[in-house]
Amino acid sequence: MDLAYFAEWANLLIRWLHLITGIAWIGTSFYFIGLDNQLEPPRDGNPRVKGEQWSIHGGGFYHKQKYLVAPERLPEKLHWFKWEAYWTWISGFSLFVLIYWANASTYLVDPAVLDMPAWAAVLASAALLVGGWVVYDLLCRSKLGEDEGKLSIAMVVLLVVAAFVACHLFSGRGAFLQVGAMTGTIMVANVAMVIIPGQRKMVEAMRAGQEPDPKYGRWGKQRSVHNTYLTLPVLFLMISTHYPMTFGSAWNWVVLLAIALAGALVRQYFVLRQLGRANLAYPAVAAVVVVALVFALRPAPRAGLASAEVPAMAEVQAITAARCATCHAANPTFEGIAAAPKGVHLDNPQQIRRWAQSMRQQLENEAMPPGNVTEMTPEERARLLAWVAAGAPAR
Ligand code: HEC
Repeated sequence: MDLAYFAEWANLLIRWLHLITGIAWIGTSFYFIGLDNQLEPPRDGNPRVKGEQWSIHGGGFYHKQKYLVAPERLPEKLHWFKWEAYWTWISGFSLFVLIYWANASTYLVDPAVLDMPAWAAVLASAALLVGGWVVYDLLCRSKLGEDEGKLSIAMVVLLVVAAFVACHLFSGRGAFLQVGAMTGTIMVANVAMVIIPGQRKMVEAMRAGQEPDPKYGRWGKQRSVHNTYLTLPVLFLMISTHYPMTFGSAWNWVVLLAIALAGALVRQYFVLRQLGRANLAYPAVAAVVVVALVFALRPAPRAGLASAEVPAMAEVQAITAARCATCHAANPTFEGIAAAPKGVHLDNPQQIRRWAQSMRQQLENEAMPPGNVTEMTPEERARLLAWVAAGAPAR
């Protein structure tokens, strides 16, 4: 049985599920934050109604009311929002295990960062996933949790530490996904461990004929606000693997933090806009951060590259045969690779030329070979780059 082949299918199907549930979750989450921020004072004078909103969508009119703590009587049917979040985590975690844990020596370990056995990388990754949530949750429940300002600073410090540690343990690519997984885990745990249990307590109290304790509503709201600012950074981290210029730099943990900051600022703009206090300073700062990154991360010219004579196709092919084609071939020989990754074939001149620009992207930032498993030398890297820079000549 060809395990790698079936793993590819599992990868596709789980990723598909992850996207669908993630969209559903983030969609409802953005929707309810927006609704909360745009409530208007109720017209019908029900003292329990905190605010209401009229809207039109899909050809129908909707009238939504938010109750302060709870309505007088519980309706028979109450909609809960939790499976979107749970399935996003279940699918995301499965994908992480399937790719990053099952192939830890390729995706998590980079000997140039820290040489460790695959099992140690998996153990560290798992410990960070759990540890991130435990520390975050303790912070929220501690005295700090009562002061939003101080808590926010603590959260930022936590993210800085997580980014720094992950980027000094794992390959750049693995580190970004690790921090993304940690953040995503915190977001889902907020739903599973705080928001939903709190809501259950509120419903139980009402069923018992008591007024629900408003603290559950407050706690839930606090976590839900954290989640909203984490959404954009997490989405960046999830797609970052396609962009080696971000995770491939020596200062990748700073890049991670800068882009996360830009994402949170953009989210802040939209939250304030919903409250009628739009402030363009937030996206402006985000834009400055991103533009600064674009310039800061420009690949430096490789020493001796300009003067080096352009390698011949035969030499290029010899290098890719040795360093790339174990994976990037019609029949890969590298264990765990079923078909040429991303359809990139580097085993014949025609295909090598076809993929020249993609090769440049991957080579410049040392994203390929992953973790330099095939031990490509800097000299070989420079040779391939010189060849691409010369227009990838056929001879
Ligand atoms: C150990 C196997 C392996 C080796 C060796 C390897 N690659 Fe890759 N390569 C991969 C995998 C896996 C991916 C897909 C990464 C992903 O999922 O985004 C990939 C993706 C790529 C891509 C497409 C990137 C994209 O997202 O569009 C290019 C281009 C590439 N590799 C070039 C190279 C070059 C050039 C070499 C040799 C210097 C090389 N690879 C060596 C495994 C390998």
